[in-house]
Amino acid sequence: MFEYSDELMRHFHDPHNVGDFDENDSRVGTGVVGSPACGDVLKIQILVDNNVITDAKFKAYGCCSVIASGSVATDELIGKTLDQALGILNTEIAALLDLPKIKVHCSMIAEKAIKAAVEDYQEKSKR
Ligand code: FES
Repeated sequence: MFEYSDELMRHFHDPHNVGDFDENDSRVGTGVVGSPACGDVLKIQILVDNNVITDAKFKAYGCCSVIASGSVATDELIGKTLDQALGILNTEIAALLDLPKIKVHCSMIAEKAIKAAVEDYQEKSKR
């Protein structure tokens, strides 16, 4: 058996930055990633102004670790440049939450959703 950390439980019970932005807004990047292993899904969105992420939101369908990962990932994103956001690794998210080893894949979904959101924004801004 494993135990969840107090920090993880805090983010699970009172997640930060839950919500949506309009996907069609040119300032918004959206990343939606599902886990083939468990079927859970995480959506992360970023609001970008002049290459800086001024706000971030998430929605999750899944376990408490993926909800907590979405919460800390969006906290981490706010105030970062797009390049800095691409440098956020799942290991950092897992460390912030002290994720049990068996739950590390939940933080991988968050890393992938961050990258997908940044790429979506970059694609949109080329148009
Ligand atoms: Fe699937 Fe956590 S068990 S994301």
